[in-house]
Parts: sequence; structure tokens; C-alpha cells
Amino acid sequence: MEATLKVKEKKWWHNKVVYQIYPRSFYDSNQDGIGDLKGICEKIPYLKELGVEIIWLCPVYQSPNDDNGYDISDYYNIMAEFGTMEDMQILIDECSRNNISIMMDLVLNHSSDEHPWFQEARKSKDNPYRDYYIWRDGADGREPTDFQAFFGGSAWEYTEETGQYYLHTFSKKQPDLNWENPKMKSSLFAMVNFWIEKGIRRFRLDAIDYISKDLDNNIMGNGPRLHEFLSELNRNTYGKRADTVTVGETGGNNPLTARMYTKPEHHELDMIFQFGIIDLDGVRSGDWSPKPYTLKDIKEVLEKWQGKLEPDELEGLVLNNHDNPRSVSRYVSNNPQFRIAGAKMLATMLHGLKGVPFIYQGEELGMTNIKFSDISDYRDIETLNFYYRKATEGWTEEKIMEYIYRNSRDNARTPMQWDDSKHAGFTKAEPWISVNPYYKDIHVKQCLEDHTSVFYHYQKLIRMRKDNEVLVYGDFRMICTEDEKVLAYVRTLRDKRLIIVCNFYEEETQINIQNYGTGKVLLSNYPGTQTDLSRLKLRPYEAVIFQVETVSL
Ligand code: NOJ
Repeated sequence: MEATLKVKEKKWWHNKVVYQIYPRSFYDSNQDGIGDLKGICEKIPYLKELGVEIIWLCPVYQSPNDDNGYDISDYYNIMAEFGTMEDMQILIDECSRNNISIMMDLVLNHSSDEHPWFQEARKSKDNPYRDYYIWRDGADGREPTDFQAFFGGSAWEYTEETGQYYLHTFSKKQPDLNWENPKMKSSLFAMVNFWIEKGIRRFRLDAIDYISKDLDNNIMGNGPRLHEFLSELNRNTYGKRADTVTVGETGGNNPLTARMYTKPEHHELDMIFQFGIIDLDGVRSGDWSPKPYTLKDIKEVLEKWQGKLEPDELEGLVLNNHDNPRSVSRYVSNNPQFRIAGAKMLATMLHGLKGVPFIYQGEELGMTNIKFSDISDYRDIETLNFYYRKATEGWTEEKIMEYIYRNSRDNARTPMQWDDSKHAGFTKAEPWISVNPYYKDIHVKQCLEDHTSVFYHYQKLIRMRKDNEVLVYGDFRMICTEDEKVLAYVRTLRDKRLIIVCNFYEEETQINIQNYGTGKVLLSNYPGTQTDLSRLKLRPYEAVIFQVETVSL
């Protein structure tokens, strides 16, 4: 049976790709070693060349940077190191002139402990801001409960002033806001509207599944009022406009709970991120222990999610972000010979899926993980806390560093590699975190000069999504399900059918997909890809998008 287009409403952003910028590490325009807003502005031509039309900025608000901007001390101001509100307005306007819109990070689950609300709240139990946060008495001289914070240690922190503890899901400098307090909510809604007024129409909602809790029943996230709160946020802010786009960072979902966020009639969010694949190997699990997985597990994730999407539903597709190690280092053999083919294969796999792909800066160059020999070269609070905690627990230095090499968020946070000059052309000063020593081989200048580079592969994929509606709305169907080396799936829309085939390994292999028709190569990461689908030989990490003549399945 042929798939027909059942989407109720096509939206302009459905065929777009989002590019995530970690401003601290993107481009330093004023030579202080830290990336900034003017730096992003200077690189708009690069973003245009790539073809992205939405850029997501990790938080640029004023912050003491305990968690690099995810601890906000003033939601109405720009972090001084990044520039001024005027620079932000220039960036918004400049982007808009270039048909690029900005997605801002909304950190609504917590603020900084240096936010005036918290500074007030901690003073006394009857302070008007006290209920902006979550306070409890200790239990028998200890923390109220044994909740653990994401970055290690108890999620409760004692304050001398009132002898009570406050809750922090992340670091102790990120106290959780109390969404049960209507005044607190109104303050956040006013802030979101301030940014909408400034021209921002896209939002990424940080850790949004944590805003509702049920502490009496030991529930820190995904609490009973989560969807009510989100719908309230929507109706009071971005939901009032038709031209907004939102994506939520949420965890622990299955396709049914995911739908709760994105059903249009629920008025919550447009999309949530799909972390199914990047959650498989244990990198983002609490204890960082490696979890073995195979290609079969990746197939199961895709089957479970992509296979079950309603025509209207789009996932935020991700293999990289600022919280994860680089995908090439993670999913491709560490033999440098395969880096380029591997990076293109992963990109093909992701961009062929149904949803909105999110590219993280440097992914389009095939940037890799780092291995700094000394812990003092690392900057990320989660990494540093892990190091000191494990050292106290008696782990050897070697074992701790092995875990850090594999898992650290700093793998993704080293400066963007623009050229092969000192500090990779990111800055002329000492960068806030060292550049990846591989920058001499992997950088923008080289990629732009080489038409076979990873960059141009991404450029083609981005363009293909705009030119092929089947990639946006087509049905998803996994094929070759039992094959242990090859991931293959079909996207079908009316009489258009594409087959996406990815060899996930460094060995050559062969598959037979002749049942699906005869193919024409639309995109491949190798020259001279075969078209005999009955004996399709795939080279190491070869990835192909075939357009096939439809045969009834
Ligand atoms: C998720 C963000 O992506 C991460 O970088 C941050 O540390 C936590 N939320 C806390 O805001």
C-alpha cells in the first residue's frame, strides 16, 4: 500500500536543519580567549554556506558560569564575556537579514544561586522570594532525602541563614525553581515574553521534564503537574504566536509519553529530542559505566521511535551536542583512515530519518574527542566533580582518565577549528579551554577547499531535505533487520521512495535489497557506488541514499 501524505499541517520549519552553537567555543572576536556574539555574527556567511536556517545558542545570559551558562543570574542580560544586549540585537537582526533565526536556550528548571531571587530567598523564611525555590528541613541532622544531584553528591544544600536545605537537581549553584508558586511562574513567563518581544521565535527548553516534582513520593522529574505547567507556559508565552518553534530536552520517554508533549492539541512543545541512540552506551548514565550495545540495539531504538511516529510527529534528531562526546569518536573505529567516511555515514543515517536534524558545531567537520593528559586542562563541572569523587573513592588516576576520555562533555566543548594557525584560528589569546591537537588536520578552511569534505556532505544533506519532501514526511520502515553490519531503512511518500543504507563497520560487506526496486544513487560517501541492489557491496562505513522505482511492498 502506498503511503499518502496525512500531515494535517505542513510547517515551514519541517524541512530545516538546526545548527547548535556553543558560544564560548565558536569564535572569539575580541581576543580574550572566549567566543562571543560578535564572533557568531562574523561567521554568518559560513552558516549560510552550510545551509542551516536556525541556530540554537547555548545560554548567553548573565551567569557566573558554574555550568557554563546553564546557571543564570540575570535572564534579562547578556553574559559580559559574550558581549552586550546591543550585540545580541545586532546578531538577531543580522541573522534575520540572512534568513537565519535564533533559537534561545530557556533554562527554567533552575537559576543560579547568584540570581537576586535566590539571594533574597535564602535570607529568611518569610522573604517574598522564599517560595521561588524549594526548601525543606533536614531529617535527623542530615539532608531531607537521599536524592542525588546530576553532577554528584546530595541534591540538597544546607543554608546557614535559615537552617533549611534547598533542592538542586544539578550543581549546588543551580537551585531548582519552584513551579508550584504562581508568582515564580509569572516571573518566568514575563521573561520569555521579553525575548519574544526582542524577536526570538525559537526556544530549546532545558531539562524541562524536571519542572514538576513530587518530593513526598521521591519524584524529582516527570512529576504529576509537568504537562499542566508546560501547557501554561505555552499559552502564556510562545503559544500565543503562530511563528514560534520549540524543542524540549526531556528524558525517560517512550513513544506514548513523548506524544504527551507534542500533540498539537496539548499546547506544549513542537518537538522533543530523541536521545535513544546516544543513551545506549552508558555515556550519559549516572555512573558513566560503559554499556555494551550492538547495531541491533540501534535498530531497535529506530524501530521503536521512527517506526511509530504519526505523520505529524517530528523528532529532534541528535548524535552530538554539548553534553556528549563527539559521534565520530564514539561510533566509528578510531583508525583515522575511516574518520571522514564514518562522519559522513553517521550524518547520512541521521538526516535520512524523520524529524529535524540538529548539528552540533564541528560535527560538520568530523571533529573528534580530546585526551588532555592533565585534569587541570578540563573545565566542565561534571567532569571535574567526577574526577575528585572517584579519586576519593580510590580509583586509580589511569582509570579515572580513561572514563573521562570516553565520557567528558569537554570532548565537545573544545574550540571550533577554523584553520591550522595557532589555537585553530579560534582566538589569538589563550583559549579558555585548549584546542584539540588534531586541529591541524581537521578545520574549516581545509573542508571548504575540498569538495569531498565532510562539510560538503552535510551541505548536500541539508539541501536534500529541502528538495525531497519524502525525507520530511515519508513513512519510515526498517529493512535488513537481521543484518548485523548494515542499517537500512526505507522512506516512502506517495510514489517517492528512498532507501538509506549505512555500513556501520570498517569491514566490507554485502546486502541484497533488490526486492525494493532498482536504484539510482542520490548521495553516497564514496565515488563509484554500485547500483546492483541484488549484490550491493558496501565499503567501510559506506552510506548511500538510493532513489528507487516503486514496487509494491
Ligand atoms: C542540560 C544541559 O544541556 C546541560 O549542559 C546542563 O548542564 C543541564 N541541563 C543543567 O542545565
